[in-house]
Amino acid sequence: MSDLSDAREILRQFLETEMLLGGRDIPWPAPAGGNRAPKAVVGAAASLPRDPSAGSSNGPSGARASTPPQRAGLSPEEVGQRVAALERIAAEVAACTKCGLHRTRTKTVPGQGPPTPRLVFVGEAPGYDEDRQGLAFVGRAGQLLTQMVAAMGLRREDVFICNVLKCRPPDNRTPAADEIAACSPYLFEQLRVLGPEVIVALGAPAAQTLLGTHESIGRLRGRFHDFYPSGTPMIGQPVPLMPTYHPAYLLRNPGEKGKAWEDLKKVMQRLGLPIPARYR
Ligand code: URA
Ligand code: SF4
Repeated sequence: MSDLSDAREILRQFLETEMLLGGRDIPWPAPAGGNRAPKAVVGAAASLPRDPSAGSSNGPSGARASTPPQRAGLSPEEVGQRVAALERIAAEVAACTKCGLHRTRTKTVPGQGPPTPRLVFVGEAPGYDEDRQGLAFVGRAGQLLTQMVAAMGLRREDVFICNVLKCRPPDNRTPAADEIAACSPYLFEQLRVLGPEVIVALGAPAAQTLLGTHESIGRLRGRFHDFYPSGTPMIGQPVPLMPTYHPAYLLRNPGEKGKAWEDLKKVMQRLGLPIPARYR
């Protein structure tokens, strides 16, 4: 990439982050190259946990040792089992014909990220770009999501990003109830394999599917809810889930970005990620 387009990219990231935060209290933009396109790690992601102390390009904070961006301490065998399980789910999805969306999809989009994330983002469904590339959140909304992750002091490569639906609904229409019913078992299985410390549900379909409610996103957001990976309330260990606005909604309603940032700061707090004093 040329110096000029590098500079443009940095400026774009800076402006998007500024917009995310409503123009005040702006975390410094991520270093060049630190938060750009996701690695093409379909379904499982072969990357092993990085050495937390090596995370120099990791955003506003230097305090990485006590707050690693990914889960540490898993044996290579455990990590390998996770990768295999995620790849198996992605392969099942690739062959899936359980709902009508298989007829119109270009590629399935199982989701991508490391096998050892502390944090997982769940969106709604692939859009045009995701359907073409087979990767979640790589279009316009994905660029904003990258900025949201960067503002938290994390890199996209440290978090797992997926959707409720693994195939694109024609014209990006809202997922139908029967499509969610057919597809959500893949998502629940992914979340059981990943065992994250926190889940962020982006928008109403993700939050409602994971929490088993019809409550609006405006009412659900802003506080943690118990998510049960077992699929049955009160069975097994719950995972704290923060619903917040979908980045596509934030692109249409930039005035709501401040609320999303409040939600993400609560997630940072929960993960022990340092929030610089001026952003508290
Ligand atoms: N919107 C989503 O919900 N998911 C994507 O992957 C892209 C856009
Ligand atoms: Fe299968 Fe889900 Fe795709 Fe429907 S959306 S065909 S259930 S993978």
